[in-house]
Formats: sequence, structure tokens, C-alpha cells
Amino acid sequence: MKKILITGGAGFIGSHVVRLFVTKYRDYHIYNLDALTYAGNLENLTDIEAAPNYTFIKGDITDADFISELFEQHAFEGVIHLAAESHVDRSIEDPLAFVKTNVFGTVNLLNAAKKEWENAFEGKRFYHISTDEVYGSLGAEGLFTETTAYDPNSPYSASKASSDHFVRAYGETYGLPYVLTNCSNNYGPNHFPEKLIPLFIHNIIANKPLPVYGDGNYTRDWLFVEDHARAIDLVFHQGAAQETYNIGGFNEWKNIDLVRLLCSIMDGKLGRRPGKSAELITYVKDRPGHDLRYAIDATKIKEQLGWEPSVTFEQGLEITVNWYLNHPEWLDHVTSGAYLNYYDVKSEE
Ligand code: NAD
Ligand code: DAU
Repeated sequence: MKKILITGGAGFIGSHVVRLFVTKYRDYHIYNLDALTYAGNLENLTDIEAAPNYTFIKGDITDADFISELFEQHAFEGVIHLAAESHVDRSIEDPLAFVKTNVFGTVNLLNAAKKEWENAFEGKRFYHISTDEVYGSLGAEGLFTETTAYDPNSPYSASKASSDHFVRAYGETYGLPYVLTNCSNNYGPNHFPEKLIPLFIHNIIANKPLPVYGDGNYTRDWLFVEDHARAIDLVFHQGAAQETYNIGGFNEWKNIDLVRLLCSIMDGKLGRRPGKSAELITYVKDRPGHDLRYAIDATKIKEQLGWEPSVTFEQGLEITVNWYLNHPEWLDHVTSGAYLNYYDVKSEE
């Protein structure tokens, strides 16, 4: 069986990637390595946790000895690296945590892969998952392409940019076979309610204020998380070695327009009079260094690998909102912190 290591598989995007690989590739054994930080939630994976081709490993990518031993023990043939500190606001509060996991942790994985695979790179692949934020901010016009110069503005994007550079450096210097993708904003089920869409769904349900940063005229390109997972599957299997691909939704929204759309969908779902949820919109102090606009040109992955989003934003938002409304216990556990005990209880069984 082909052994694949997926890091950060208990997080938002990682859990969708783990599910896709475990269910689609029965001849792979998927090892999900996750430290279970506040963002890691094994309740995201209850449906596949007993699958015979799946193993969860609790561990920290910043622990070099542990990572090195793990690679010696398992002889992984591929790595799909998603583990990261991922929230921009947290990076503004504590940049070092982002350096530690996103830079140091990534280099630990690169070192372990290089050591295990050296002299036998054939058939091996290190896939690094990155973000469009490394390119910095766009004005009103233009799109990020794979050759746009890196220009990160937040501690989060600076740490991701650094990790991207290390991945390419290991490719150039040691011949490590890698692929790298830079993706736009994901949304969908299992998204931790610190990020815009799940936070606002939660607050609308709870009748709490919706804190819109600044004037709300910031623009993001939104992609349904399962479409990102499909792109990751495709790039892992068919992407050319030492190549980068941009992944995006062809779907730009100003924050305030997106929030108003979400409010009107939620009014319908909750049986509220039209306009009721939008009364919760509250303009608050802006995020420092807030990037004005991100927009991805995903032509390369579309033309070379035949990928494009499979759902429209309207369809994806419908699935997402329904998921949150149908999983109140998931939201309750996350907001109460109960999900953090899931691993301990399972381990005792
Ligand atoms: P997330 O915060 O939901 O999940 C991160 C996961 O990594 C969690 O399960 C956490 O426990 C784990 N983790 C954190 N530190 C760790 C460590 N030191 N060792 C082992 N595991 C650790 O993040 P996400 O939104 O799912 O993002 C996943 C990846 O995709 C990240 O690399 C992020 O930069 C990238 N990305 C995210 C988006 C997005 O919109 N969410 C878009 C583009 C790229
Ligand atoms: O572009 C990809 C990136 O998208 C990923 O690399 C990051 O991991 C992911 O967190 C996301 O970053 P953003 O900063 O764009 O996402 P966030 O959901 O935090 O914010 C989206 C926009 O909404 C941004 O302009 C800030 C604004 N915002 C966010 C929050 C949480 C608000 O106005 N109010 C809020 O409460």
C-alpha cells in the first residue's frame, strides 16, 4: 500500500482532503499527522476514523526528532502538507507562533523527506499547500498569476511566503521533488468560526453583532473547500514536478456584499423578516495591514490539468449554511471547547 502523510488533516481544509483520499484511494494508507491545536478537530473526521486505510497520529511538526523518526518508521512515498497556523488576526497578536509552525515546521518536514528519499527521489512527491496572500494586495485591477512577485504584508503571509521559498530551495538545491499551490479563500463545512463566513453564520444564528472590519470594501475570491480538495488530488497525482499552480474560484466578492448576501440567505432559513439579520452588521476597527484585494488567475491549472470549480457560489453557500444549521452540536462543541476532549476520550477507549 502506498503510504501518504497528510499534515493538518484535522483542520478545515485538511479534513476534506483526508476524507477524499481515504474514500477514493483504498490502495493508499493515509496517515493524518496533526498536533490538535485549537484549530484541529477530530470531530471533523468521525465518518472515516474507523477506515482500515486511515491512521491518526497526534504530533507536532515543530518537533524535529519526532518528525525524523516518523519518516524512518513509515517510509512515506508522498507528503501533502497543510498543517499551519492559518488565521491572519492571530498572526498579528503572536507572529512567532507562525514562524515556528509555518516556517520551522515546514523545514523539519523537508529535512525528513530529503533524508528518507535521498538517492531515490523517483516516485516521491512533497506537496506544499500555500495561499494567495503571499502575493500581497491588488488594487482595483489585475489578478495574481504564478509569476507574480511575492509581497506579503501580514505575519501570516510572511511565514507562508518563507515556507514556500524553502520548499523551492529544497527543490533547487537538493532535487527534492515538490509541487506547490497557492489558493484563494476557502469556505464550506467544518470551517472554524474565527474566519469571516463561519463566524458570521454563527453570530447570525446567535443574534450577535457581525463585526465588519473597516469600511467592508475589501475583496476576496471564494472557493468551495471540496473544490480545493479536488484540485489538491489532481495536482498531487498529475501536477508537473517543481511546478506551482494557482487555485481560485473565479468568484470575487466585497466583504460587505458577501455579508449582506449571507444575511439574506439566513433570514430565509431562520424564518426572519427580510433585512432582520443585516441589522446585526457592525463596522469595527480595521485589521492592521489589511490587504485590499486578492484575485487569482487560475488559468494554468484549468488549461494544464482540466480543473475548475464544480459548484457556483450560490450552491456552495447553500451547502455551507445548511451544514451549519444541521450540525448545531459541532458549533456548540467548538464554541464551548468540548471538541478539544475528543482525542483524549477516544484514546482512553
Ligand atoms: P486550519 O487552521 O483549519 O487547520 C490547521 C491544522 O493544522 C489544524 O488541524 C491544526 O491542529 C494543525 N496544526 C497547526 N499547527 C500544527 C503543528 N505545529 N503540528 C501539527 N499540526 C499542526 O487551517 P486551514 O484553513 O484548513 O488551512 C490549511 C492549509 O491551507 C494551511 O497551510 C493554510 O495556509 C492553507 N490555506 C488556507 C486557506 C483558507 O482559506 N483556509 C486558503 C489557502 C491556503
Ligand atoms: O486568501 C487565503 C487566506 O484566506 C488563507 O490563506 C487564510 O488561512 C484564511 O484565513 C483566509 O484569510 P483572510 O484574512 O482573507 O480570511 P478571514 O476570514 O479572516 O477574513 C476574510 C475577510 O473578512 C478579510 O478581508 C477580513 C474580513 N473580516 C474577517 C473577520 C474574521 C471581517 O471584516 N470581520 C471579521 O470578523
